[in-house]
Amino acid sequence: MRSFILAVSTTLALMAPAFAQQPTLPAGEGREIIAGACTQCHAAGAFMQLRSGPEAWRAQVHDMILRGAQVSTKEIDQVVSYLTANFGPGINVPAQIVPGSLPDGAGRDLVEQNCGLCHGLDRVAGARRSKAGWDAMLARMSALGTPAKGEELERIRGYLHAQLSAN
Ligand code: HEC
Ligand code: HEC
Repeated sequence: MRSFILAVSTTLALMAPAFAQQPTLPAGEGREIIAGACTQCHAAGAFMQLRSGPEAWRAQVHDMILRGAQVSTKEIDQVVSYLTANFGPGINVPAQIVPGSLPDGAGRDLVEQNCGLCHGLDRVAGARRSKAGWDAMLARMSALGTPAKGEELERIRGYLHAQLSAN
């Protein structure tokens, strides 16, 4: 497994010149570290189109360091702050590919407020899952940084179960 990951990392590192055309990273403290350390294996687009809260970014950065990203221990906080400030929930969310059209139903307003902060609502409107599938998805979206908690989260769950079930 380890050697597989190393092999993948090495292959990707060798592909680095292919990413000469980088999208422009916004200015801010930590930009230079990220421009250097986070574009060796994939283009900046791999993270510029994602939106996540601070804990999810931290986990992602640790994962990338395990894969070989050259970020020192004392740089981690700065990198996480930069990513959260520029690519956090609700910040410059990438345009929807297809406009979302969520069915009417109780809780739709909460879904609109919470589930379009990091990606288009089309991603939600187009998804169908079993109830257990939505529960797993909600746990993942919460860990990524969805603001709704407690009763609001339950109303979102109710909407997804009722309106977007797999069968
Ligand atoms: C040594 C190579 C390497 C470096 C350097 C690297 N990454 Fe990655 N990154 C990967 C690989 C390989 C994947 C695909 C992993 C997967 O599919 O699980 C990935 C995937 C990602 C993803 C997920 C993309 C998605 O669509 O889900 C994000 C976000 C990300 N990297 C951010 C970063 C950030 C931020 C940095 C700098 C701290 C960084 N990467 C540096 C190898 C690297
Ligand atoms: C804090 C950012 C954030 C918020 C808020 C958020 N998501 Fe996501 N969502 C992501 C990211 C990042 C991905 C892609 C990575 C992944 O699938 O884990 C994603 C992917 C998805 C996908 C596609 C997953 C797949 O397996 O195809 C669906 C569906 C989804 N989100 C639904 C929701 C719903 C429903 C909500 C509201 C309860 C929500 N998201 C709120 C960040 C967020």
